[in-house]
Amino acid sequence: MSRSKSSRRWLKQHFNDPYVKRAQKEGLRSRSAYKLLEIQEKTKLIKSGMTIVDLGAAPGGWSQVASRIVGEAGKVYALDILPMEALVHVEFLQGDFREESTMQQFLQRIQSTPIDLVISDMAPNFSGMRSIDQPKSIYLAELALDFAQKVLKPKGCFLVKTFQGEGFEAFLKNLRSLFTKVTIRKPSSSRGSSAEIYLVAMGYHHKGK
Ligand SMILES: C[S@@+](CC[C@H](N)C(=O)[O-])C[C@H]1O[C@@H](n2cnc3c(N)ncnc32)[C@H](O)[C@@H]1O
Repeated sequence: MSRSKSSRRWLKQHFNDPYVKRAQKEGLRSRSAYKLLEIQEKTKLIKSGMTIVDLGAAPGGWSQVASRIVGEAGKVYALDILPMEALVHVEFLQGDFREESTMQQFLQRIQSTPIDLVISDMAPNFSGMRSIDQPKSIYLAELALDFAQKVLKPKGCFLVKTFQGEGFEAFLKNLRSLFTKVTIRKPSSSRGSSAEIYLVAMGYHHKGK
């Protein structure tokens, strides 16, 4: 399919999408916000007063949802390679998470604040070729997990977007060795045609403990 044809199809799907319409009406910055809300409804992952890190945060739907739930006693640290409009109680850093310097800068921002929950909706720009997109996606999920291991407090939680395909099972196995409970979620607001899947990991502990 030609690029213009596929992007026309995407635009048509986007504007007819009930979640896009709802997001516009409810002042949420992304349809992705409903994926987090659905996961939250099932898992009660986010709690009032929590300190949360949001990776791949732009345009800010997840940060909006997270900051509303954690309230004034809580805090959200957000990061994206793209700029993001400011949100109350959300501290944003722009940078490429694949770069060590960004990771270090972000760690400095957080300092030694114990983090209750790391959420990552990071996804690469898709080329449409699975053999290129899949390793890039898994790599971003692995970086998010490395980061979570650096900042999470014991028993902390981690929510990450991944894509089913090569590297998925190994990633899931690793996650299971680091957290007490790992569940797989496919929110109904996630387009059925997409291979994306969310992993919810609870009860962080060091390997083997
Ligand atoms: C699906 S969007 C996130 C949507 C967001 N959760 C929301 O609700 O608004 C994925 C995001 O990952 C970001 N991203 C992709 N690669 C990245 C990288 N290397 N470093 C930082 N952010 C990245 C993209 O810029 C994009 O904003």
